[in-house]
Amino acid sequence: MRLLVRLGEAFGAERLVGIGSAQVSGVSFKSIGDPGLAFLEDVAAQGARVAVPTTLNPAGMDLENWRALGVPEDFAEKQCRIIAAFVEMGATATVTCTPYYAGNVPRLGEHVAWAESSAVSFANSVLGARTNREGGPSALAAAVCGCTPCHGFHLDSGRRPTIRVVVEAALGSRADFGALGHCVGQRVRDGVPFFTGIPAAGWDDLKSLGAAMAASGAVALYHVKELTPEAYLHSAADLESIAVTRADLDETHARLSDEAAPELIVLGCPHASLAEIEALAERLAGRRLSIPLWICTSRAVKASAAAQGLVTVIEEAGGQVVADTCMVVSPIERMGFTCCAVDSGKAAQYLPGFCRQRVVFGDLDALLEKALS
Ligand code: F3S
Repeated sequence: MRLLVRLGEAFGAERLVGIGSAQVSGVSFKSIGDPGLAFLEDVAAQGARVAVPTTLNPAGMDLENWRALGVPEDFAEKQCRIIAAFVEMGATATVTCTPYYAGNVPRLGEHVAWAESSAVSFANSVLGARTNREGGPSALAAAVCGCTPCHGFHLDSGRRPTIRVVVEAALGSRADFGALGHCVGQRVRDGVPFFTGIPAAGWDDLKSLGAAMAASGAVALYHVKELTPEAYLHSAADLESIAVTRADLDETHARLSDEAAPELIVLGCPHASLAEIEALAERLAGRRLSIPLWICTSRAVKASAAAQGLVTVIEEAGGQVVADTCMVVSPIERMGFTCCAVDSGKAAQYLPGFCRQRVVFGDLDALLEKALS
């Protein structure tokens, strides 16, 4: 509670507000290391217990299948202790950055305390819930206390758009949404963009757009005219306006992509939905991949995919449905990979610095084309 009050004072909050759920980051041993593990075990041993439904961000490995994926033994031992500490505190081990595909779906207007920038963006923008960009410790403190400082995106005043983004390009693929997000995030930083010129987009498109904007910039909320739930509340007519053209998107695609030959195709950043796994299985049915492929998702979505036979189809083609982790928070640089192919603007942003990877960025079909015989 002291941590929450201090944060509230720093941001000028006048009060605390009760929350419906928390999403806690800082779950991968790769991200938090020995100091983070010691902190979590200490807090759990002192009796901290969550007061609201609490879900967890991805871990550094598939919690069931880590040996087959080549995760080092010393890493796995510490990763399991981190999950055990969270579970002792009462968190649910969803272990995903898309908790909204795994049972944690806030209502319109509901106050929550979520960490994980892509999930924050989705909760605020697509679901119309209200959260600031929490860090791991502040989200955990909010989970234990059941409240969070009421400022920023919890207030109507913090949810107004600050810049209009006119999209003058047709968005033909999920990678286009990622490139758009990457391009806009760099230009608007922590602003609240109001998009026009996007006539249609599904949840997975918006997930990709928001994740990339939060990675290249610090966008935690955006509106899309006639598509997102709070867009109708706002007029962007008087705002500063920027345009994004096909040339901007092509330039972003080129900037994010290397000419190197990928050793691994890795999809599912943010974690894949069932629809995305279905689409992949359709493309792979009866074919054979010449390099490894992972599609990362939650254990809950993997179970649904397995029940539909989709996991078998992907495995028969030589791919793997990897649960609980992703290409960025798992130790792939210790597993022998140096170059990954991705269709995610967020993954393309983080893989070079966080995982020492070269990156090939492109549309799913283009990535698969070279890997399918
Ligand atoms: Fe999720 Fe990992 Fe991407 S946590 S948003 S899949 S970098």
